[in-house]
Amino acid sequence: MKVLVVGGAGYIGSHTVYELLRANHEVVVLDNLSTGHRSFVPSQVKFYEGDITKKEDIEKVFKNEKIDAVMHFAAKIVVPESVGKPLDYYYNNVEGVRVLLECVVEHGIKRFVFSSTAAVYGDAKGVCHEDDVLAPINPYGETKLAVEKMIKWTANAYDLSYVVFRYFNVAGADKTLEIGYKNNKATHLIPIANEAALGIRDQLNIYGNDYDTEDGTCIRDYVHVTDLAQAHVLGVEYLEKGGASKTMNLGSNKGFSVLEVVKTLEKITPVKYAYAPRRDGDPALLVASNDQAKKVLGWEPKLTLEDMIKSDLAYHKK
Ligand SMILES: NC(=O)c1ccc[n+]([C@@H]2O[C@H](COP(=O)([O-])OP(=O)(O)OC[C@H]3O[C@@H](n4cnc5c(N)ncnc54)[C@H](O)[C@@H]3O)[C@@H](O)[C@H]2O)c1
Repeated sequence: MKVLVVGGAGYIGSHTVYELLRANHEVVVLDNLSTGHRSFVPSQVKFYEGDITKKEDIEKVFKNEKIDAVMHFAAKIVVPESVGKPLDYYYNNVEGVRVLLECVVEHGIKRFVFSSTAAVYGDAKGVCHEDDVLAPINPYGETKLAVEKMIKWTANAYDLSYVVFRYFNVAGADKTLEIGYKNNKATHLIPIANEAALGIRDQLNIYGNDYDTEDGTCIRDYVHVTDLAQAHVLGVEYLEKGGASKTMNLGSNKGFSVLEVVKTLEKITPVKYAYAPRRDGDPALLVASNDQAKKVLGWEPKLTLEDMIKSDLAYHKK
């Protein structure tokens, strides 16, 4: 298949490009490089610099390439920024996909894979399942939910099938260490813990150690970016074989506690950490079920917590 990866110069998009190539698919990337990196796109991949809110930028690709499927990763993803600038988020994340879908439909492309988020579950607790109530609590999550619905109705009206993936935290780097998580404002636990281990920050704070969990710290969901990328390849191949449209979590099912992350990191390198009071609104357990992805795609995470931490650390060092 020839797959257009929109946002393929970003963190998850570039890892998906690597996995598509490993699975012998042809890949084209469209990216405006707002947060992506030109160097993340391998030399054998045709790169178009452009913005999905501009129809002419998308048309340039579709006129030159015979695309079989489109994957979308081209979102703004910073939750606090979305609260301060909701209209920017609606423009990029919703209007961008509307324009993209318009082109997809006009060019008769029949397969669409969308990278959504577990933020659509909102103020959830425990294990999230695909048919749970969807009630986002910030503009970022709202834009993703709006797009999930837009894709559903577009597929209903035209000859289009889709896979929507929802996930929480993603970590790690490709085994080549050519690509990885490159961000100086890390908000996720694993890169923050690694930054503390590397002395980039003073210490890691663990918020609360009196939760009703085995070691008293919160449990969250982490999936290795390579596992996630492989799920996207399985998703598009499922559509190629005629699979029906589907929305699936890409979760770890059981998650990892904050202390488990710290102890795993300590096996590799020392890290300074301290306990701090609980933060408001943090549930004890928040993870995504992967039963659907297992049933439909035969997917479940293969890489371990140690793989995530080690590869992120190695990429950081590099
Ligand atoms: N990182 C996570 O932990 C996480 C968790 C859940 C869901 N997601 C979803 O995964 C997707 C990818 O996230 P990421 O972490 O790789 O982010 P990222 O910022 O690294 O990648 C986004 C890419 O899209 C490009 N882009 C953004 N707007 C564009 C536009 N209008 N036109 C063209 N290109 C544009 C950026 O330049 C960048 O290369 C997002 O849709 C996000 O909602 C990410």
